[in-house]
Formats: sequence, structure tokens, C-alpha cells
Amino acid sequence: STRIVVLASGGGSNLAALLAVHDDPAYGGRVVGVVTDRPGVGALDLAQDAGVPTAVVRLGDFADRSAWDAALTQAVDVFAPDLVVAAGFMKLVGEPFLARFGGRILNTHPALLPSFPGAHGVRDALAYGVKVSGCSVIVVDAGVDSGPIVAQVAVPVEDGDDEESLHERIKVAERSLLVDVVGRVARDGLTVEGRTATIG
Ligand code: GAR
Repeated sequence: STRIVVLASGGGSNLAALLAVHDDPAYGGRVVGVVTDRPGVGALDLAQDAGVPTAVVRLGDFADRSAWDAALTQAVDVFAPDLVVAAGFMKLVGEPFLARFGGRILNTHPALLPSFPGAHGVRDALAYGVKVSGCSVIVVDAGVDSGPIVAQVAVPVEDGDDEESLHERIKVAERSLLVDVVGRVARDGLTVEGRTATIG
């Protein structure tokens, strides 16, 4: 089955959704490692409870960004992944990471890209006043949430929404989209040609 490494920075609800299905051989993929850039985050507890090995690679522990990126690449490489899934990973990966894993890194983002990229997609969509937002699974490239789109789901913005209520509604859709897309990619592979990402 496809070896999946999950990158996370926070609570890990998307990771939890993947861990809930990965024991089923029919799913086609298995989370073999979880790597975070922060100690003490929920994603690490979830991994440990599931018996999945973890590593923490903190930017602040390295002299500069490229040393951190090299360490992150090494930490992920230890798990020999076929597929890397950024699920709430709040840092950009650099050239060494892309050179090693490029074309097989997915990222989930809580907005309908190319609108509202970056660290505050939910807040920015709400501030703009859109009536529909959603979530996107993309292939990671060197830009900020600029890679080819694999799949998206629309989620309505409701009157009175704040960042938290909208993000919670998006995260419900996001978890099922991510589980679906990662499983399909695990089983059938991913082809990237220019801006077009196709499963299979
Ligand atoms: C998710 O909504 C994910 O899309 C978002 O962080 C949340 C992590 O939740 N990622 C980004 O905003 C990346 N720019 P989780 O830790 O519960 O999976």
C-alpha cells in the first residue's frame, strides 16, 4: 500500500480522519509517519495514539531556513513515503523538499483557490464578503498555495458567520474531501502535466 507521511502544525483533525480509515487495506494507503514543525501539538498525540511514529523539526532549532528545510526533508525521507500530505502544515517547504518529493505532495487549504491563499484563507474570505467558500486539495509547488488543483468542494457562508464557525463548516467538508482524494491518489496515482493534476 502507498506510504503516506502527513505534515501538520496543529490539532490534526484532518490527520485524525486519515488515521480513521488507513487500517482498511481497501483504502490503499497507510500513514507511516507524522512530522510537525511544533512540539506539543494535537497531531502528535493523535499519531502516538495510533501507533504512528513522529518527528518534530522546529524552524527555531536551525541556523536558517535552508538548514531547517534540509532537516525536514531528511525527517520525512526516513519514512520512505510515496506520498506526502500537508494537513494543516503552516510553513512553506523549500527547494530541497520539492526536489525530493515534488509532484507527490498534496496540501489541503480552507478556501476555493486561487482565491484566498496563505495562512488566513478563512478570515480573508470572510473579510472579502464572499457568499460561498470551500476547500481545495492541491499539488504543492514553489509558490504559496499556487500548485495545480486536484479537487475542491464549495461550502456556503452563512449570515452571522465568524472565522471559527465558517472554518468548522469548511473542516467538515475538508475532512471527507481529503480522505477521498488521498485514497484515490494512493490507489490510482497522480499525474501532473502543467497546471493539470489528474488522479490515475
Ligand atoms: C485546515 O483547515 C487546513 O486546511 C488549514 O489548517 C487547518 C488545520 O486543521 N491549513 C491552512 O490554512 C494552510 N494554509 P487540522 O490541524 O485540524 O487538520
